[in-house]
Amino acid sequence: MADASSNSDTGFISSIMSELFGSPLNVGLLCICVVLLYKIIKGKGSSDPPPKKPELPKMKKRDFTLEQLREFDGKGSEGRILIAVNGKVFDVTRGKRFYGPGSPYGVFAGRDASRGLATFSLTEDVLKDEYDDLSDLTSMQMESVREWEMQFTEKYDYIGQLLKPGEVPHEYTDTEDEITEKSEAEKKTD
Ligand code: HEM
Repeated sequence: MADASSNSDTGFISSIMSELFGSPLNVGLLCICVVLLYKIIKGKGSSDPPPKKPELPKMKKRDFTLEQLREFDGKGSEGRILIAVNGKVFDVTRGKRFYGPGSPYGVFAGRDASRGLATFSLTEDVLKDEYDDLSDLTSMQMESVREWEMQFTEKYDYIGQLLKPGEVPHEYTDTEDEITEKSEAEKKTD
């Protein structure tokens, strides 16, 4: 009896192994997962962390063209990182271990990350240099973009809209900044 169950266990494990290593694509994906996990864990668990830089002041609400967004890729002197998801711009500087230069999701820094997130791709070529209206995405991919947007809204500061070509930026009042600050105070910290 015990033999039969251990035989079926070995059969199950070897079928997973042959599934994982049976095709070069699977081996490639597995390697990407391992590298990403390693980068994330390494970023989190360094035993002697460098002294913490003081947090940047909260950005005033404003809208961005794609070009203006690209200035905030974390490589500037201030180190601020902005990312757009589904037309909304978020300040993700506090997640710099994810999006800072050389970090696992650094490809999204200063960019509209929607298409990369929707297609589960970290390749820079997937992100368009011109405004991306996402109209060719499937409904499932759009659903995934909306879920990412919700996740970013919960975790990071919302700064403003990503402008379509020719669109005029909104004029934000100080009161709008105050209202957002109140709700931001309830946000989770990393
Ligand atoms: C297949 C391999 C992957 C593994 C093993 C992996 C692993 C992880 C882990 C462990 C976290 C949570 C880190 C934490 O909260 O401490 C995370 C977050 C995240 N992952 Fe991945 N990931 C993978 C692929 C991807 C891909 C392909 C994308 C995008 C196209 C992606 C986008 C993200 C984003 C945006 C976050 C959230 C970071 C934040 O909180 O701001 N991941 N991933």
